[in-house]
Formats: sequence, C-alpha cells, structure tokens
Amino acid sequence: MTKKTLGLDDLLHSYFLSVSGRESDILRALREETAAHPLSRMQIAPEQGQFMALLVQLLGATKTLEIGVFTGYSSLAVALALPAQGKIVACDISEDYTTVARSYWQAAGVSDKIDLRIAPALETLDRLLESGEAGTFDFAFIDADKQNYDNYYERALQLVRVGGLIAVDNVLWGGQVADPTVQDASTEAIRAFNAKLLQDERISLSVVPIADGLTLALKR
Ligand SMILES: C[S@@+](CC[C@H](N)C(=O)[O-])C[C@H]1O[C@@H](n2cnc3c(N)ncnc32)[C@H](O)[C@@H]1O
Repeated sequence: MTKKTLGLDDLLHSYFLSVSGRESDILRALREETAAHPLSRMQIAPEQGQFMALLVQLLGATKTLEIGVFTGYSSLAVALALPAQGKIVACDISEDYTTVARSYWQAAGVSDKIDLRIAPALETLDRLLESGEAGTFDFAFIDADKQNYDNYYERALQLVRVGGLIAVDNVLWGGQVADPTVQDASTEAIRAFNAKLLQDERISLSVVPIADGLTLALKR
C-alpha cells in the first residue's frame, strides 16, 4: 500500500496494460504505423486514449474539440467513444501528419464525426468564438505547441459549457518541469501553465499522473 502515486517500472506497466488495456484493432494498427514515424513520441499513450474515451462517455459528450491531431490517435479514440451524432472539431497545421489520421478515421467509419481544420489552432478557435460557439462544447483536448497552452486554454474555457471538461496533455513533460536546471521555452510555459491552473477558481482541477501527465479542468 502506498500514500503516493506509484511509479510504474516496465514490469508493472506491462501488468497494468494486461489487466486494463482494451485497445481496439484499428487503434492498435494506427499506433503501430505511427511507431515508425520519426516523431512517434508525440502520440498519446494507449492507456490515455482509453481514459479519455471513458471521460467522453462519462460526460455524455456530443461536441468536442481537439487541438493537436498528429496521426490521429487521440481523435480516433474520442471519435469511437462518441455517439453516432457526435462531432469533433480537430485542429492541426500539418496536412502531412493528418493524411495518416484521415485514412484511419475513414477505415474506422468515423470520418463524418471529425471536422478537421488545417490552420493555426488559435485562428480556428477564434473563428469558433466569432461564430457564436462559446459554451457549446462538452470536451476539449489540448495537445499542440506548449508555448500556446495558455492561449488554447483561455479559448477552450470559453468554448466549453459549464460542466464541460478541458484535458491538457504533457503537463509533467517527461519530468523536466520538476528540474529547475531545465529552462527552455516549452518547459517554462508548462510550469507557468500548471501554476496558473492551481489558482484558477473558474475550474475544478485534477492533475492525473497518467502517461506524460494529464490535467483535467472542469468548467464551473
Ligand atoms: C503532440 S502532437 C499531437 C498528438 C495527438 N494528439 C496524438 O494523439 O497523436 C502535436 C500536434 O500539434 C500540431 N501543432 C503544432 N503547432 C500547432 C498550431 N499552432 N496549430 C495547430 N496545430 C499545431 C502539430 O502539427 C502536431 O500534429
């Protein structure tokens, strides 16, 4: 028994996956294809995808936002958990990465649920706000450039409804956030973001130490 969150060595991590992993064949195929990509470390872990799918079901979400698509693992996990009429507005700047995503959305039969917007995500979010979509999203997932996390968060907080959830990836940043000798711009941005959310009375907060750290911010 422990009063502190367990660190998972390889043996315990394998056991954890063996008793909880329910990755579908299509998600596994996408993960295996992405593993050959030079930037495969950008993809979320399968246990995180499964956790986010459960959150989406728990929320009864029908309208969600994703900021940072890459080859599509997180969006596919969420899309598969949404009901038939569910929608994701998915933001990325890369046609190249998202070509892979599109092919898997198609193969999984969820293309109709995903509205991919290729543009800087801040522009897409501002357009959503300008078109009157504030307060209409149930769930938002932030997983793009770290230096814009606060900008994405402030916009997502307007776009989700009261009782809606914002999930933010990489908040433990491979442990570098806890090492004061690491002072690059992305690490400093995540540190500042984490410190801000701790004090933010507009949300209920939990930082979940799954994968690379996932902040959950429930809009009050
Ligand atoms: C960490 S990856 C996303 C991983 C993805 N969620 C998954 O599960 O595989 C970050 C993505 O953000 C995108 N990105 C970076 N800067 C962006 C920006 N300013 N606007 C939109 N997308 C951006 C990158 O092209 C990349 O695909």
